Amino acid sequence: MNRNDFPILNKNIIYFDNGATTLKPSILSETISDYYNNYSANAHRGDYDISLKVDEMYEHTRELVKNFINAKSSKEIVFTHNTTDSLNKIVFGFFSNYLKENDEILITKAEHASNILPWFELSDKLNLKVNYIPLDNLQVTLDNVKKSITKNTKVISIAHITNVVGDIRPIKEIIEYAHQNNIIVVIDGAQSVPHIKIDVQDLDIDFLAFSAHKMCGPTGVGVLYGKEQYLNNTYPIIFGGGMNSSFEFDKTRIYKEIPTILEAGTPNIAGVIGFGAILEYLNNIGIDKIHKYEVELRKYALEKLKQLDNIIIYNEASQSSIITFNVKGVFPQDVAIYLNKYNICVRAGSHCAKILKDDLGIKNTVRISLYFYNTKEEIDKLIEVLSNPDILKEALV
Ligand code: ALA
Repeated sequence: MNRNDFPILNKNIIYFDNGATTLKPSILSETISDYYNNYSANAHRGDYDISLKVDEMYEHTRELVKNFINAKSSKEIVFTHNTTDSLNKIVFGFFSNYLKENDEILITKAEHASNILPWFELSDKLNLKVNYIPLDNLQVTLDNVKKSITKNTKVISIAHITNVVGDIRPIKEIIEYAHQNNIIVVIDGAQSVPHIKIDVQDLDIDFLAFSAHKMCGPTGVGVLYGKEQYLNNTYPIIFGGGMNSSFEFDKTRIYKEIPTILEAGTPNIAGVIGFGAILEYLNNIGIDKIHKYEVELRKYALEKLKQLDNIIIYNEASQSSIITFNVKGVFPQDVAIYLNKYNICVRAGSHCAKILKDDLGIKNTVRISLYFYNTKEEIDKLIEVLSNPDILKEALV
């Protein structure tokens, strides 16, 4: 794991906001520049060499994604713009037809807005119910899932790892139980796919959504994975070029098959090709090595933070590289502004998880979210800066 791969780290910043987006190794901009400078044609439309090269590179990334999450077929991989886009396509493209009045959707109050608001919208439209799996010390347990399921529950939609609590949910057991009860499971993998090995076949995931930019890739590229049987019944919510085979003046039209039917319009070609280079980069490091390193780093950071009297940690029991805390007596945003004076980047606020506040006991927090290029030395610097007894005074200057 070479920090020199990341040009931005030469700028002397300490970047702890990887839950929001990650830094990029230079291979990303090199690959994207190569596309724009040397073969910047459209995809799936041309019969000339540089366009055929684009097709090959674009589909190569799809194959890499397929292998990264061990999907059965590359037909099950749809490129979207981000996790939010993927989740919306699942909710409005599949579940809007699948669910009927009084059916129930099971989520948690720790979900990100993108895994709550689409369900709220759909439930208003179809007269469905949105229910919440109770959290146990902020975590999801199989027991609470079992207690929350009714005969009307048709879908469970949860993050694998949430972006504030950072708990790794027991999704394998949850999915197994859900399937025994004919419930489809949607997994928001935005905070997990970049950090731990996901095998969609082993976990038996029905739908999975994640973003390239949270795993060193470009912004504007997301992935929607769906089992073939479900994607075949996912109606496009965007229509236009690329996704149709033919259409006539009398409105007859023939659409293409998955995944193309769900990728209308010119996609983010540069981004998708860049994402391919990133997947190869991550494969070379090894996702298991990344996870192991992060577990160590989290443990180190937690131990150090716990030694400070002025820090309240909210998610000590979690296992991911997200640590959520507050500095006693200082507003979280002021802590972030104070840390910024020392070139330390963290996120403060409700982190798009706006209905977690009752369980968390507080609305706003400071969050550090680590990735494999972070170091113990960076944690030491954070601890040194947070130890300042004049933090409140300095935050307000
Ligand atoms: N979902 C991103 C975060 O947690 C933006 O910061």
